[in-house]
Amino acid sequence: MKRVLALFCALTALLVAISCSEDHGSYRIENGMIVFDEPKPAAGQQDMLGFAAEPIETLHVGFVGLGMRGEDAVYRFTFLDGVEITALCDLLPERVAKSQEYLTAKGFPAAAEYSGEEGWKALCERDDVDLVYICTPWQLHVDMAVYAMEHGKHVAVEVPAAMSVADCWRLVDTSERTRRHCMMLENCVYDFFELTTLNMAQQGLFGEILHAEGAYIHNLAPFWDKYQGNWRLEFNRTHRGDVYATHGFGPDCQVLNIHRGDKLDYLVAMDTKSVVGRSIAEKSMGAADFANGDQTTTLIRTANGKTVLLQHNVYTPRPYDRMYQVVGTKGFAQKYPVQGYAFEPEQLEDIDHEDLTSHGFVPAEVRKELMERYKFPFAREIEAKAREVGGHGGMDFIMDYRLVYCLRNGLPLDQDVYDAAEWSCIGELTAASIENGSMPVAVPDFTRGRWQKLDGLHFAE
Ligand SMILES: NC(=O)c1ccc[n+]([C@@H]2O[C@H](COP(=O)([O-])OP(=O)(O)OC[C@H]3O[C@@H](n4cnc5c(N)ncnc54)[C@H](O)[C@@H]3O)[C@@H](O)[C@H]2O)c1
Repeated sequence: MKRVLALFCALTALLVAISCSEDHGSYRIENGMIVFDEPKPAAGQQDMLGFAAEPIETLHVGFVGLGMRGEDAVYRFTFLDGVEITALCDLLPERVAKSQEYLTAKGFPAAAEYSGEEGWKALCERDDVDLVYICTPWQLHVDMAVYAMEHGKHVAVEVPAAMSVADCWRLVDTSERTRRHCMMLENCVYDFFELTTLNMAQQGLFGEILHAEGAYIHNLAPFWDKYQGNWRLEFNRTHRGDVYATHGFGPDCQVLNIHRGDKLDYLVAMDTKSVVGRSIAEKSMGAADFANGDQTTTLIRTANGKTVLLQHNVYTPRPYDRMYQVVGTKGFAQKYPVQGYAFEPEQLEDIDHEDLTSHGFVPAEVRKELMERYKFPFAREIEAKAREVGGHGGMDFIMDYRLVYCLRNGLPLDQDVYDAAEWSCIGELTAASIENGSMPVAVPDFTRGRWQKLDGLHFAE
């Protein structure tokens, strides 16, 4: 009788579990929460937290994708010491020829040339390439990055590094298995206001940070037809969600020490209908449908009880805005639409000013003084050259400079593969939330439980 009762209880538990868990392919719904599948790591696979590779005295770089972004990257790299550009690749041979002409005109040795759909494979197979720098359309990033790592190369890949949760895991697992770096080229974390604010946060000026905001609000009307083969509009035509979150989200995750003491727990997202996006796609491609909402809004909660608000809008007329706000128990920072800081007056005891109150921004001269005082040491070192070389006001050059510096000195990179995965997975997670009536979505822990192994974010020196 006891055994019959036990069997009955087990069956009931199984039925309850089945009724609470619905399978949707790449994710399941469990007790009202969307949960994405997590692959099993290979036997013996180790994490890449704090990983440093062997130093590389002269860094040999191969570039894949020489469109708007890649061509500029080649230009910036010609200003960096200890670098040799050994290979160039694009689908279109004329783009390779253009960058090659630039290199040789500047007196650099000619790089090996590759083109066509799969030319990048031969580039990754070369012995004289240490770093593969990928600036291709989004959907190609992961296959290229994985192949490069499997051929012993470090990888730097443009934003977003991956467009699906499964592809984020492929990057993490390949990097862990091959012991190669995989850094996403998130340049906005190197912008001067974000870097200075991060330094202030790390020195406790804002008290405990409770909330952060970030966005990509950029009317792309002048650019849509410039993407090779219309890849970007086509991706947005077929995907809902915040498909381009990393510029706003990266700086938020850095001040919140994500996977360095805290972790992203769950999110909810909501979008508007598509009006402008749909009309652009109708005119340029004759499309009848457009999945991506004109404005997408996301709220994320962390394990330590912090929140993040994200926005994505690349369609409607609005001033450019990455939002970037930091809300702490003792202070506040805002980058857009006007830069400002506010603090409890006791936080600024050593500033000589009688007019300090947390009800308004600090006066302009105090902000200037603070920004000078809290400038990140490496930003101070490289600022003049970065502004001269340019690339979004200098932040792109600081990013490349740091990447090369860390690789040449055998140091952990500023952004690791977990950052790439966490900041990139927002696209598919928000789509899943929106497609299920804004249902909460569990954010995968790409460190597989090791999010407290590192204590805060530290840039290697
Ligand atoms: N960080 C930033 O501020 C920033 C700014 C712009 C773009 N981006 C990112 O850079 C990447 C590229 O964007 P873009 O604006 O340069 O687009 P783009 O269309 O101008 O360039 C993409 C290039 O990739 C090439 N390409 C396509 N298929 C290829 C293949 N199989 N092999 C080799 N090359 C191939 C294309 O011919 C083209 O030259 C995207 O990930 C984008 O999100 C980042």
